[in-house]
Amino acid sequence: MAEKSFKYVILGGGVAAGYAAREFAKHGVKLGELALISKEAVAPYERPALSKAYLFPEGTARLPGFHVCVGSGGERLLPEWYMEKGISLILSTEIVKADLASKTLISAAGETYKYQTLIIATGSTVIRLTDFGTPGADAKNIFYLREIDEADELVEAIKAKKNGKAVVVGGGYIGLELSAALRINNIDVSMVFPEPWCMPRLFTAGIAAFYESYYANKGVNIIKGTMVVGFNTNENGEVTSVKLKDGRVLEADIVVVGVGARPLTTLFKGQVEEDKGGIKTDASFKTSVADVYAVGDVATFPMKMYGDIRRVEHVDHARKSAEQAVKAIYASEQGESVSEYDYLPYFYSRSFDLSWQFYGDNVGESVLFGDSSPTSECHKFGSYWVKDGKVVGAFLESGSPEENKAIAKVAKVQPPAASLDKLAAEGLTFATKI
Ligand code: FDA
Ligand code: NAD
Repeated sequence: MAEKSFKYVILGGGVAAGYAAREFAKHGVKLGELALISKEAVAPYERPALSKAYLFPEGTARLPGFHVCVGSGGERLLPEWYMEKGISLILSTEIVKADLASKTLISAAGETYKYQTLIIATGSTVIRLTDFGTPGADAKNIFYLREIDEADELVEAIKAKKNGKAVVVGGGYIGLELSAALRINNIDVSMVFPEPWCMPRLFTAGIAAFYESYYANKGVNIIKGTMVVGFNTNENGEVTSVKLKDGRVLEADIVVVGVGARPLTTLFKGQVEEDKGGIKTDASFKTSVADVYAVGDVATFPMKMYGDIRRVEHVDHARKSAEQAVKAIYASEQGESVSEYDYLPYFYSRSFDLSWQFYGDNVGESVLFGDSSPTSECHKFGSYWVKDGKVVGAFLESGSPEENKAIAKVAKVQPPAASLDKLAAEGLTFATKI
C-alpha cells in the first residue's frame, strides 16, 4: 500500500489537534507539509458541546456550528479551511501502530504515514463498566460519551425513549452535565455515585450541597454512597433496570455512564517516557523522543506555578498546549526556544441555568462565600482555597465576565489571606480589589 510522507503530522482530531492546525497555519505552514490524522469522521470540533447544547431539544448545536476554534472566539475551521491551507485532513483513519524510531504510523487499513515531526494529540478514552467486570454492562442502551457518534446514538435513544427513565452512573463532569441534559429532555433521571458528594475531585462538601439541592429541585434523584453492581435486560438485550450495591433496583430505559477517562497512550508504550498516566513532556510539550510532542489530555507537563508535573483533562489546556507545541516546533527550527508554558488551571461547567468557573489549585483549607441557597434567585456564590496563608484557588458560580476575571487574577497572584472568616465575609469583594 502507498506510503505518504509529511513534514509534520498531528495524530488525533480533537480539540488540541484543531488548535495545533490553526497555529501551524499562523506560522505559514506550506502546502502539503502538514497532515492531521483522526479516527473521527469529522474535522476537529469543540468537544464540550457534546454534553451540553448537542443534547438539548431546543437551541440544539450541530456541526458545522461548533468546529474549532469557535470555543475561544476564533474562526471556525471548516473542512474547506484545511483544504485552502494545503493541510491534509485524513479522517476516519485509526492509527493502530506507531514506531517512533522509524517515524512511522500505520493505520487500521494498512496505510503508512511517515513524518519528520509528530504531535501526539490522542486525548482520552472513557473508562467502561466492562473494564471493572460489572455484570450486564454490555447491554443495549448503556451509553458513554466521548465522540460525536456516541452523542448521536444518545440523541436517538432520547427520542426513542421519550419521557422515559434514565440512570446516570458517576457524579463527575459527565454525571452532572448529562443528568441536566436528560432532565431538559423530560427524562426521569436518577444519578448514582459512590462518593459522599458530587464532583469530589473539585467540589467541597459546601459547594456540592448547592448543586445537589439544585438538581433535586429540578427533579434529579441523587443516590450517593453506592455503586452499580449489575443490569437487568429484556429479551432484546436492552437494559431494563440497574442493580445497586445497597440492594436497590432502579428502572431504566437509558443508562449513561461517566466514571472517568483514561489518556490514550497505548500506541507509544515502551517507546516514550510516561508519568502520572500520561506522556511526559517538558514545558514546550516535547517528549523524551526527539521530534515528538504530546499535547492536551495525554501530556504530563511541568506546572510552573506549583513546581510539579500534572496532566489536565480540560479544554483550555488542550488549546493552549497545542499552540505552545507548534510555537516551540517553529522556534526550534530557527535554533530558538519559546518561553516556558506557565499554565493557570482553568475548569468550567454549565448545566441548567448554572455556570461555574474555577481557577488555580483546590488544595489547603477552603471557605465558602456568597449566597449558596439553592432556592435563591441569584445563587451567586463561590469558594476560595487557602494554603500557607495564600489564596491559591477560586471558584465562582454565576459570575459575570468581570467577576470571573477577578477570581482568575486571585488564583494567579495568590494574595495573602488574613483569615478564613475575613475571606468569607469579604467574598467577591476580596477578588475585585486585587
Ligand atoms: P480529544 O479527546 O479532544 O481528541 C482526541 C482525538 O484523537 C479524537 O479525535 C480521537 O478520535 C483521536 N484519536 C485517538 N486515538 C487515535 C488513533 N489511534 N488514531 C487516530 N485518531 C485517534 N473540558 C472543559 O474544560 N470544559 C467542558 O465543558 C468540557 N466538556 C466536555 C464534554 C465532553 C462530552 C467530553 C468528552 C469532554 C469535555 N471536556 C471539557 C474535556 C475536553 O473536551 C478535553 O479535555 C479535550 O477535548 C482534550 O483535547 P485533546 O485534543 O487532548 O483530546
Ligand atoms: P470524572 O473523573 O469527572 O468523574 C467520574 C465520576 O465517576 C466520579 O464521581 C467517580 O467517583 C465516579 N465513579 C468512578 N467509578 C465509579 C463506579 N464504578 N460507579 C459509579 N461511579 C463511579 O469523569 P467523567 O465525568 O466521566 O468525565 C470524563 C472526562 O470528560 C474527564 O476527562 C472530564 O474532565 C471530561 N469532561 C469535562 C467536562 C468539563 O470540564 N466541564 C465536562 C464533561 C467531561
